[in-house]
This record gives sequence, structure tokens and C-alpha cells, in this order.
Amino acid sequence: MDILLEVSDLKAGYRDVEVLKSVNVKVKKKEIVAIFGSNGSGKSTLLKTIAGLLKHWGGVIRFLGRVIDNLSVEERVKRGISLAVEGRRLFLGMSVEENLILGAWTKRDKLKLNLERVYSYFPQLAEKRKALAGDLSGGQQQMLSIGRALMAEPKLLMIDELSLGLAPVVVEKLAEILLKIKAEEGISILVVEQEVSLALEISERAYIFDLGEVVEEGNSADLIKKDSIRRTYLSLS
Ligand SMILES: Nc1ncnc2c1ncn2[C@@H]1O[C@H](COP(=O)(O)OP(=O)(O)OP(=O)(O)O)[C@@H](O)[C@H]1O
Ligand SMILES: [Mg+2]
Repeated sequence: MDILLEVSDLKAGYRDVEVLKSVNVKVKKKEIVAIFGSNGSGKSTLLKTIAGLLKHWGGVIRFLGRVIDNLSVEERVKRGISLAVEGRRLFLGMSVEENLILGAWTKRDKLKLNLERVYSYFPQLAEKRKALAGDLSGGQQQMLSIGRALMAEPKLLMIDELSLGLAPVVVEKLAEILLKIKAEEGISILVVEQEVSLALEISERAYIFDLGEVVEEGNSADLIKKDSIRRTYLSLS
């Protein structure tokens, strides 16, 4: 079976406002899937609901064939779902290494190994291991956020807003590292990315959201050629 995550007919929201109407999203093993679409269309809500930070209102979330929608965040992390969140949510007054260690609570026995593994992907974090997270650049904070998620040895790494606020060279480097992580570890990555050309370049498949629904999906290589996508999201004719 090559499906890792299967979200079917998912509904979720906040208080009495339904945001996700009936969302269907799949992530296969060893695949990068991108999500993009207008502001407020429910991309972050989807990731939070998959991670268990938000309650699902209806539909089913399956991970490796098992229904997970009533599991706690902790249980989902143990099964292999990690989220690197928008705005990074790091402990800014703690060191880089302390932040990484916080991500490792499910894998205490492999702490040293995983620290070295994360430092090998992100040498800049190794150099700054004693520095405060609050003193890092934006790009380094994003690396730390992803590194912290990797400390739990996820099978599915979710990243909300990969490139937000970062310089193009930094984003390019991050994209390279993600491709390397996928190739070396065989994990899947579900990434929300506003920069549509980047999203389509690094992913195998993509979903486009609008008003809490998937309005378009397909292979990224096909989507990037589509006139409607090029006009709406890439400002190209
Ligand atoms: N904590 C919250 N309480 C109430 N409503 C919320 C909350 N978070 C988000 N919403 C609303 O839910 C809708 C979807 O928000 P969400 O953050 O999922 O969108 P998004 O696609 O990630 O947008 P963006 O591109 O701006 O990050 C929006 O209308 C938003 O105002
Ligand atoms: Mg968002």
C-alpha cells in the first residue's frame, strides 16, 4: 500500500464557523505534496486538523490505513505525523539545541543520533547550537522549526508556509534540503506554500484551495503548464 495519509470528506472549523467543507487529500509514501490557494482558504486549518490540534467535525483521516481522527496530538506524533508551524512557534529564549531536544520526546533513546542527523542537514544549526533561537535569522528559525519536527522521526512532515518572510536564496537552500531529506529518508512532506512556482517545483502533486475546498489538484508538472494556473497564480500567459 503506497498511501500514507488519506483525508476523506473532511470538515473542520472554529466555534460555529465551518472552514473545511469537504476536503479530500492524499499523500503517498515518499512524496512531496504542495498546497496553495488564497488567504483564509483553510490550508493551515487542514494541517492543524491532521496534526490533531483542531477537532475534526466530520469525514475521516487515515494514516497508514488506520483511522486517527480521535487520537491526541501526542499519539499522532508517535505514529509519525509532525508539524512545523507557521510563525515557527519556537522557544526564543532557549538555545537551538534545547529547542531540538523538545522535539525529541517520542524518541528519547535516539536523541544524540537525531541531533547529529538534523545537524547534518542543517550545518548552520550545528554552528549555532548554543545560540538562542531568538537570535537566529528568519531562515535559521525555519530550519530549526523543521529540524525540531524531524527529531520525532516523522513519516509525514508537514510544513506550514515554507518560504514566508525569507529571502529567495534562503528559500532555495531550504527547498534543496527538503528534497535531500525526502530522498535520504523516504519520508513524505505535505507543504503549504504561497510561492506557487516554488510549490510546484518541489512537489510531485499539488492541491489548490479556495474557500475551504479543493478547487484543483493534479501532478505538479501538469499544473505548472496549465493556462488557468499560470494566469491566476504565476502571473504568466
Ligand atoms: N483560531 C481561529 N479562530 C477563528 N477563526 C479562525 C481561526 N484561525 C483561522 N480562522 C479562520 O478560518 C479560515 C481559514 O483560515 P486558515 O488559517 O486555515 O487559512 P489559510 O489558508 O491558512 O490562510 P493564509 O494563507 O492566510 O495562511 C479563515 O477565514 C480564518 O479567518
Ligand atoms: Mg495559513
